[in-house]
Amino acid sequence: MRTAIFAHRGSKANRPENTLAAFEEAARVQSDGIELDVHLTKDQEVVVMHDEKVNRTTNGTGQIKQFTLRDLQELDAGSWFSGNYRKEKVPTLKEVLELLSDYSGVINIELKTDRNVYPGIEERVVRIVDAYRANLPVVYSSFNHESLIRLKKTDASAEVALLLWERLAEPWRYTQQVGATAQHLWEPSAFSDTAKQLHQHNIKVRAWTVNKPKHMQLAFQMGLDALITDYPEVALDLRKSYETAGKKLH
Ligand code: G3P
Ligand code: MG
Repeated sequence: MRTAIFAHRGSKANRPENTLAAFEEAARVQSDGIELDVHLTKDQEVVVMHDEKVNRTTNGTGQIKQFTLRDLQELDAGSWFSGNYRKEKVPTLKEVLELLSDYSGVINIELKTDRNVYPGIEERVVRIVDAYRANLPVVYSSFNHESLIRLKKTDASAEVALLLWERLAEPWRYTQQVGATAQHLWEPSAFSDTAKQLHQHNIKVRAWTVNKPKHMQLAFQMGLDALITDYPEVALDLRKSYETAGKKLH
């Protein structure tokens, strides 16, 4: 089984995370999947950013939920990373999906509802995905599993994945109970017997955030379903070498 490569927050290592420039790069290198994080603004728009606050990745301060979309998009979301990206804005989910309309890989939308609940975000996200990504692969994930249950109530056919730091006892039971088809596990938890247990129950395992080449290699050897990395291009090259080396053995 081939391990898919998902680009974490776009191509986080060499572009400002969660910006259109980062997603463009992830698509350019042909990542199998692209992970991004979503929140709600004060005026209920779904926007893409990692933190609840704008402080780290823009030139502004404060919580996303206190900004209207218009005010949020006045901010510079690229200069903190490099002057070359000073024109980057905080994108909406719609803008990202429009940019990636020709991208046939998986888009992994992480609902950042673990600190702020953002009432109604699940319905809003599903509505946008229906409008902008119908019939193309999407996986929803969250550390807030109630959010995933709410999302499944809105769209029973949605593919959802539990985000977890820790290993669970009999991990398949809880996963099935939530209606998820995958666990997205912190890498030390993914590189354990849990992966085998989940696979025995047809549950996918995707590890985050796998940045070291030797860990990427381990993910390939273990047959994990995906690794989520800040270095998609490195991982894709490494997988090519790994597959070529494997073929030579036969
Ligand atoms: O979805 C995997 C990973 O993104 C979870 O952690 O904090 O980078 O969103 P974080
Ligand atoms: Mg994330």
